[in-house]
Amino acid sequence: MILTILLLASSAVAVPLAHSFTSTLNTRLQVGGPRKLTFNAQGNFKVASFSDMHFGEGEEVTWGPQQDVNTTIAHTHILNNERPDYVVFNGDLITGENVFAFNATKYLDQLFGPTASRNIPFSSTHGNHDNSLAINHLEEIEYEQKHYPTLSYTRADVGPKPWGCGNYWVPVYAKQSDFVPALIMWFFDSRSFTAGAPQQAGGPIPPEANFYWVDENTVPQWIKQQSALMGFMWKKVPPALVFVHIPVQKADILAPLPSAGDHDDEPDPATQGFLNDTYTGLDLPFWNALVALDAGRGTVLAVTSGHDHGESWCARATASSGIPICFNGHSGYGGYVTEHSMVRNARVFGLNLADLGRRVPVVRTWNSYENFTTNDEVVLGPEYMKEYN
Ligand SMILES: *[C@@H]1O[C@H](CO)[C@@H](O)[C@H](O)[C@H]1NC(C)=O
Ligand SMILES: *[C@@H]1O[C@H](CO)[C@@H](O)[C@H](O)[C@H]1NC(C)=O
Ligand SMILES: *[C@@H]1O[C@H](CO)[C@@H](O)[C@H](O)[C@H]1NC(C)=O
Ligand SMILES: *[C@@H]1O[C@H](CO)[C@@H](O)[C@H](O)[C@H]1NC(C)=O
Repeated sequence: MILTILLLASSAVAVPLAHSFTSTLNTRLQVGGPRKLTFNAQGNFKVASFSDMHFGEGEEVTWGPQQDVNTTIAHTHILNNERPDYVVFNGDLITGENVFAFNATKYLDQLFGPTASRNIPFSSTHGNHDNSLAINHLEEIEYEQKHYPTLSYTRADVGPKPWGCGNYWVPVYAKQSDFVPALIMWFFDSRSFTAGAPQQAGGPIPPEANFYWVDENTVPQWIKQQSALMGFMWKKVPPALVFVHIPVQKADILAPLPSAGDHDDEPDPATQGFLNDTYTGLDLPFWNALVALDAGRGTVLAVTSGHDHGESWCARATASSGIPICFNGHSGYGGYVTEHSMVRNARVFGLNLADLGRRVPVVRTWNSYENFTTNDEVVLGPEYMKEYN
């Protein structure tokens, strides 16, 4: 393994990868940049993940702006109730086919408002509605970086620009002085594009944006190389919490299993790898890279997605190589609503150093609602849904 890395380090391709690796770590040191993330004194780190906010619908009618106000109220309630250490906006931040190109990114200020005003660090993945003729993933990423330089950890490290470049990772340390992170949060860009009616900003789908999966040409190789560098530098690959907007296709296979949380949107052929309702299998290079990252050790704690507003469960089975696949539910008043997703929610992960230090790490997760209640708490790990694994 060390030999491989040394060979890699001596080849030309390794230079930008190693550069991306060290620049990730160096970002923490830059004056005015985001700070080094750490667990608290009790060894806890709580992540709240909001998905499918769909800001900017119905700009010209009263229900549109009212809907966005409702979303910020829902987020405010959940943030006050949970007091998370980190927030993940897991895609479909803006309904891109409804908005104007000249002011689309302005919606991000409303969306990030409740989180930013509480000084909570955050980052984003982007969804199919964040790519349209009026807006794209790179524009949202650049706006977020420019306007939230100390709070945002979002980056565009690899992947095709501008539709699919939001792939990056963020380290979380047990304490300030540590060199080896206790947790890596990985974020992936599942691309896709939402077309609108011809008279709207959406327009037709450009052929170079017509993909519904994480880029199979650049990202799997990058995961492999970044995790090899982690192993080389840190002598271990820390437990991973993964966020990507469009669920992996394995989620379709897990959907019928009995698991806590809403099951309103299944079976859904809108998972990664589908094109024109036909499964292409082109999401598998990404999925297989996650399976390799886990290496059967249970270090991939969960792969969490939005996209299906009426799904808010977590499940694992042999079909997912034992890796838990989770859904976010619905945190926005924009976008469609299903019977059980009327009360908006976040998915929360309660990470703890002792839990991560076990031979096979575990993580607690639950749904947290705008009505100040929580539900569906489970502990993801080797005991969860053991009978299917
Ligand atoms: C906003 O929330 C209020 C209070 O829950 C509700 O009555 C109203 O229908 C919501 N409006 C929209 C546009 O979602
Ligand atoms: C963008 O401009 C439109 C048209 O003037 C307006 O209705 C909308 O509220 C604006 N959006 C933002 C976020 O400023
Ligand atoms: C998908 O369907 C559209 C419209 O029916 C067609 O134009 C396009 O060529 C199809 N794409 C593929 C990859 O089959
Ligand atoms: C809050 O919403 C959740 C999710 O729909 C529901 O299970 C719970 O009963 C509600 N609680 C209250 C107090 O309304």
